Amino acid sequence: MLLGCKEPIPKLDVSLDERSLIPLPRKITPNGQTFVIYEKTKVYTSTDTAAVAIAKQLIDKIQTAYGYELPLLEEGYATDAYGIYIGLTSNTVGNPNREAYHLKSTSQQLRLTAHHSSGLSRGIQTLYQLLPDSIVNNITATGPSASVLGVPGVEIKDYPNFAYRGAMLDVARHFFTVAQVKRFIDLMGQYKLNVLHLHLADDQGWRIHIKSWPKLTQIGGSSSVGDQGGGFFTQDDYKEIINYAMARDITIIPEIDMPGHTNAALASYPELNCDGIAPKLYTGMKVGFSSLCVQKERTYEFLDDVIGEIAALTPGPYFHIGGDESHATSKKDYIYFIERVQNIVKAHGKRVIGWEDIAAAPLTEGTIIQHWTNPDTASLGIRKGAKVILSPAAKTYLDMKYDKDSRIGLTWAGTTAIDSAYLWKPLEVLTTVSKAHILGIESPLWTETVVTTSDMDYLVFPRLIAHAELGWSKSSDLSWPSFKQRLQQHLQRLDMMGVDYYKAPQLFTASNASPQK
Ligand code: ACM
Repeated sequence: MLLGCKEPIPKLDVSLDERSLIPLPRKITPNGQTFVIYEKTKVYTSTDTAAVAIAKQLIDKIQTAYGYELPLLEEGYATDAYGIYIGLTSNTVGNPNREAYHLKSTSQQLRLTAHHSSGLSRGIQTLYQLLPDSIVNNITATGPSASVLGVPGVEIKDYPNFAYRGAMLDVARHFFTVAQVKRFIDLMGQYKLNVLHLHLADDQGWRIHIKSWPKLTQIGGSSSVGDQGGGFFTQDDYKEIINYAMARDITIIPEIDMPGHTNAALASYPELNCDGIAPKLYTGMKVGFSSLCVQKERTYEFLDDVIGEIAALTPGPYFHIGGDESHATSKKDYIYFIERVQNIVKAHGKRVIGWEDIAAAPLTEGTIIQHWTNPDTASLGIRKGAKVILSPAAKTYLDMKYDKDSRIGLTWAGTTAIDSAYLWKPLEVLTTVSKAHILGIESPLWTETVVTTSDMDYLVFPRLIAHAELGWSKSSDLSWPSFKQRLQQHLQRLDMMGVDYYKAPQLFTASNASPQK
């Protein structure tokens, strides 16, 4: 190489209109320039582990998609040389929220900063959306594509509307593998969701190994709805999921549903039944017939072991006790049970979440309720001091059909088209609620009719993307026409990722018609 002969940076001109940002960031200021990434672009970071980890994620992603590895330098972060800069700052970036980030691209620099590692985790997703769709490729599968990448010049200052933005995956009705869960985490993380609630046990299956009660998975893990095979996570599997989620700043919330929805446990251990007789495994879909034996001391020893083992494996602050539809438990027993279990969860250092039904019982300090069907019950919980996670079934249940012709899904809460999933107001779901009571929103996927990855994709996408924007973006910025336009543009990326989303007719207007599946 000739000394002093500087290679010119390749030139590209990319407009922000060519990129689709979902959820919509709070403040976007385009500057008409383009930052160009090619194989010589250096990535500088502050010396923080979090900044280095995010820089490595970016470098890995570019290497996977385009086959070249950008050089990483944990120094020079403060210089103004051409390059990518990722760093933690000591001052807040516009807003004290831990997920706030600041992203700025000019022809000279691409800079992502945050005052907390969570901000870098959210901001990097915005950067991926500012890159061409080919960023989602895997070069070994697709072959090379253009390797000089343009990032439209823009300044983005962003932070979330709600602190809790979740999805729930029911692995009890049908089991889903570690690989399927990781894929789900990657997909939801793209839209800045930050909680994955795992529904780990129900009538039809127990899906996490408990060392002190091994028959729960040995027997209770063997069934599913429709008798389509079982499965469970070993504790190492569960840790693998936790670590994968943690690296993406996503909190895992384990749920063991109780005292109802417990047939799989009751079938595994006769002693958990009041009559000492284990019922058969259950593969149907009806609910509300099972109950742990509330009056037996052995039940609480069991729960102390189960909650203790799971809590010890779970770094997040929450443990979800279910508590819904316990129609086979008397009201008196139910209240006694919910009070006692809250204390067990607390003794293991976790904060209780329960479906809104638990509002029938006294709620201990810090307990959170999850609204799903009855606004009056949820309002009662709020009056008892609980914060609320909003999962109104008619809007957020991903297992509801889109319309009567959907190939899978249920309809008990109605049908939910993509615009209906977007067009609701979290602040108006419960009349007694103010924003301070709302932790956030969550979209549950119950899996009675969901067996394959393709089934999952069909019900989850694109509705989860709509919920993600509701959870993150400023409520006065929400606009169905704007969201629809960005989502239509984004579908190509979903196609390239192999996501078998529902081809909602509303998204395929004359201008970009595509045959319906
Ligand atoms: C629920 O859908 N039973 C919480």
